Parts: sequence; C-alpha cells; structure tokens
Amino acid sequence: MTKIVIFISGRGSNMEAILKECKNGILKGIAEPVLVFSDKKDAGGLETAKKYGIKTETLSAKGKKRQEFDTEVINLLSKYKFDYIILAGYMRILSDVFVKKYSGKIINIHPADTNLHQGLHAYEWAFKNKIQETKITVHYVNEGVDTGKIIAQKTVDLTGCKTSEEVEKRGLAVEHQFYSETLYNILKNNH
Ligand code: GAR
Repeated sequence: MTKIVIFISGRGSNMEAILKECKNGILKGIAEPVLVFSDKKDAGGLETAKKYGIKTETLSAKGKKRQEFDTEVINLLSKYKFDYIILAGYMRILSDVFVKKYSGKIINIHPADTNLHQGLHAYEWAFKNKIQETKITVHYVNEGVDTGKIIAQKTVDLTGCKTSEEVEKRGLAVEHQFYSETLYNILKNNH
C-alpha cells in the first residue's frame, strides 16, 4: 500500500474526503494515511483527522524564514515512512529545499485551472470574472506557485451562480470526489 502524508492549514474538507475514501472507498487497500501535518495548531481538520484515528503533527512557522521552517518540517517527516505528500488546502508556498527533497512526490489540488489562475482565492477570482466554468486541477508541485505538471483537471459548471460562496460550494463538491479519483489513478499500479 502507498503511504501518504496529508498537509492541511485549515478546515480540511479535502483531507476528510480522502480519509473517507482510504477507510471505505476507492482508496481502500491503495493508500494508507500515516500522518496529517499542519502549519496551524488550530486547523479544524486536525480534530477530524484524530476522529479517523490518524496521527497528527503541527509546527508553527511564526517568525521563521520559509527555508528554516521547511527544514524543520523535513526533520519531522524523517520520523515517518511515506511515499507521497498530499497537499489539501496547505496554504504555504514550499521552499526549493522542500520541493527538491520530495521531488515528484508532492501533489496539490488547486481550485482553478492553474494555466489561468495561481495562488489564493481562486473561487472569488472565478466569480468576479463571471466565468461560466472553472477547472479543478490536480498537479505535481514544483518550485513555482501552482506551476507544476498537471495530472488531471475536472470542469465545474458555474452557470447561474449568484455568489462567490455558491461557486465555492459547487467547486468543493467536485474537489472532494476528484482528488481521490485522481489519486486512485496515480497510485493503483504502485503496489
Ligand atoms: C480548497 O478549495 C483547496 O482546493 C484550496 O483551499 C481549499 C481548502 O479547503 N487550495 C488552494 O487554494 C491552494 N492554492 P479544505 O481545507 O476544506 O480542503
């Protein structure tokens, strides 16, 4: 089984969707979550991870340079055996040191087409620009911000959305299914 570490910074709804699929769904027997890591002590998703019986760890980045913090995270991760790092709403840009260390092993979900939008607030961007459909993107992480090789994309129909919240709600529903489906496709031949 492929061992995964999930990184979160907040509510962790994508993380929960993945944990569910690992426990009883499409990722059962394929992926085994060994750790949920957060850069935020108060990330809501940490409690959820504990409910699923998954080990959690946190480290605060406060006052630390990006590279210094990431080196601490690498040290922490050295206690664990794992194959992939799955970013699920991890709101930090990873330093070159970190990306090089786990090259080709870090996967992220971005709530827009990374060719068109990078960084934060992708659903607000979609709403403000009145685009009729957006694309959820799962991609490998490289040294840039949302510039890594695209693994898969899924279109979300946004017609009729009246608020940014509505856009997010539709998008998240797709994210929750699509991330696990994509992980399944990557990992199914790995064991
Ligand atoms: C998700 O929409 C995820 O795609 C996005 O943050 C949200 C996290 O929600 N990630 C990014 O914007 C990364 N650039 P969650 O904590 O409930 O999964």
